[in-house]
Amino acid sequence: MRKLLVLGFLFSLHLRAHEGMWLPTLLKGIEGDLHTAGLRITAEDIYSINHGSIKDAIVHFGGGCTAEVISTQGLILTNHHCGFSAIQEQSSLENDYLKHGFWAKDKAAELRNPGLTATFIIRMEDVTDRILPNIPAEASDNEARRREAVGKLGEAIAKEAVAGTHYQAVVRPFNYGNSYFLIITETFRDVRLVGTPPSSIGKFGGDTDNWMWPRHTGDFSIFRIYAGADNKPADPSDANVPFVPRHSLPVNIGGVKEGDFAMIFGFPGNTQRYLSSYAVDYVLNTADPLRIKMRRASLDVIDDAMRSSDKTRIQYADKQAGISNAWKKWIGEVRGLKELRTLDKKREQEGIFTDKAQKMDRTDLQAVLPTLKDLYAQYVPLATARDLFVEMVYYGPEVLRFADGFRELAEAGDEAKSKAKAEERLSVLPGFFKDYDVEVDKRVFKALLPIYRASVPVAMQPAVLKEIDTRFKGNSDAWVDALYARSVLVDEAKLTAALKLKPKKLAKVMANDPAYKASRSFFSSFLEQVRPQHAVLSDRIETAMRTYVKGMMEMDPGRTFWPDANSTLRLSYGKVEGSVPRDGAVYEAFSTLDGVVEKYIPGDAEFDAPQRLLELHAAKDYGEYGVNGTMPVCFTSSLHTTGGNSGSPVLNARGELIGLNFDRTWESTMSDIQFDPDKCRNICVDLRYVLFIVDKFAGAKHLVDEMQLVRNPVEASIPGIIQLPIHR
Ligand code: ARG
Ligand code: GLU
Repeated sequence: MRKLLVLGFLFSLHLRAHEGMWLPTLLKGIEGDLHTAGLRITAEDIYSINHGSIKDAIVHFGGGCTAEVISTQGLILTNHHCGFSAIQEQSSLENDYLKHGFWAKDKAAELRNPGLTATFIIRMEDVTDRILPNIPAEASDNEARRREAVGKLGEAIAKEAVAGTHYQAVVRPFNYGNSYFLIITETFRDVRLVGTPPSSIGKFGGDTDNWMWPRHTGDFSIFRIYAGADNKPADPSDANVPFVPRHSLPVNIGGVKEGDFAMIFGFPGNTQRYLSSYAVDYVLNTADPLRIKMRRASLDVIDDAMRSSDKTRIQYADKQAGISNAWKKWIGEVRGLKELRTLDKKREQEGIFTDKAQKMDRTDLQAVLPTLKDLYAQYVPLATARDLFVEMVYYGPEVLRFADGFRELAEAGDEAKSKAKAEERLSVLPGFFKDYDVEVDKRVFKALLPIYRASVPVAMQPAVLKEIDTRFKGNSDAWVDALYARSVLVDEAKLTAALKLKPKKLAKVMANDPAYKASRSFFSSFLEQVRPQHAVLSDRIETAMRTYVKGMMEMDPGRTFWPDANSTLRLSYGKVEGSVPRDGAVYEAFSTLDGVVEKYIPGDAEFDAPQRLLELHAAKDYGEYGVNGTMPVCFTSSLHTTGGNSGSPVLNARGELIGLNFDRTWESTMSDIQFDPDKCRNICVDLRYVLFIVDKFAGAKHLVDEMQLVRNPVEASIPGIIQLPIHR
């Protein structure tokens, strides 16, 4: 009986995917679980500060994505959508790398990208004991003063840690400031574009397939890190040489299959695992629905315009993608939170917390949930005003943000400065108007304004909107029409002429421009009526959350807590597996090239495919990358990921690269707040597809030759813990 129970327990451990994004320094503490789940190397092989380990192959790419080192000559792999802006910058009408792809035939042909960085983690260290005891007592209840005190302590620790080195260091808070880690990094500044497939592979499926499974996107691009002759970071220069890494990931093409252990190592951006029910209530019932509604309203306008004109389609492709990515994610998040009954569960947990706090006779813990409740009651209107300000000004009609760039000119002080500013503005006009359609912008404004006015407390709305009632009989469309009709900011010719006026005259034109006035009013109402109070409440919520999370930890000492993602290096583990997203529906774990052909629509913006790819498919010419006459393209695994994990390596039990993360399924997007082991799946490009595209499609075999390929699957090796081969 006892044996059965133990077996049952082990079985369930094996069966369940695992929530959590683990700090690499804490892996030793969960090493047993990792081995039970199937890992075949040691925690020290993954993260070591004494010798090369897998962490030395993980790169924070351009600050927002992850990349990984895949050759001893500094070659790194990331997503196409992570390399997108670099690829776009390199592209011109003559050399349209977005459309046709790019493959450097040798190192001399690799393209430099000024400003693009690649950062490695040298080490992380828990410095909580050097921070918490040294925060002055009077700062402990005042978030701003506490921040200042912690900032000073952290700076001193960081400075001391990197003295005499070329490294950078920073001290970051975890668990709402209950712990602090020192993070030492090395940042390379010469990162060159080596290869990218055409968008018809790298973005195949476009926004229609975004957040969706089955997926058939070859979302990858390849770069190389260059260093000075001493192998240290150097400014971009012809004198630089390929960086020799401390570790590079072997690539396994020997066959990955459903059920295999998998782990992901990267830089997830932001999760909110420990939110109170009051916060979840806000996200679920206010923030997400309102933002979805706002974005749907502008997408209706933009999609319609894009369908009816090729010019608008090209002009708005990027903006549309930016608006729709989060729109689609929030829809999934709301559905997921409802299905999981997250709000009810949070309330139940809070009931248990309150009982325990009473039993422990802890008044501080007894007070914290009522405090949060009270704070959220005050916070919700301010947060709504802030969220919708962001939606209006940063994702809504472009004129509002564009107009803000003319502030110095409208406020005209110094004549010489005004002249210089006018010149600078004249230089940005062509870029702005190239992708701007005034009719689309006006329609977006008309669509969003009524939602904004109905949702934001009147006292927090821009004063200028009062004109709608005082001068336009409550007709907001008429107010918008008048604004666009009279503004010089929405007309390239008129604006160009205005910018050539004498500074005083120009200032007058700007200050009286209705679009400029509207923009100013949006900004000043936000800065005066919303932001200060919003900051005060956010700080007080932060203080309460620190106590709340600390209390949860004290009440549950046996449980290992993982701190919310905060763009620091994390490892999640699980396995390669499909899912049952809804009753009656099954997602298989793998997709193949057959699916690309099924989805193929000749000439379509999202579903066109290159001729060469179709030919390779017809001939089943997959080289050594295919499996029984099929070519794997993507797979899903049960790894806990979020935004920022794009480009992260998915590794097998031996730490060999099998997949490149780029998305989650739609049914997973609530995992930032609550993870569901049955449903949450991240989506990866299969490394066999990456190599097939590089080698067979693009003929860039020389890149594959740089990599260390492993051809035996994991089970074929001797059981037990194995030695990780480390370079150098
Ligand atoms: N959903 C992914 C992420 O959140 C991919 C976005 C890029 N792809 C796209 N089709 N828009 O970043
Ligand atoms: N595409 C996301 C990124 O750029 C990853 C998807 C997710 O949010 O999991 O990081």
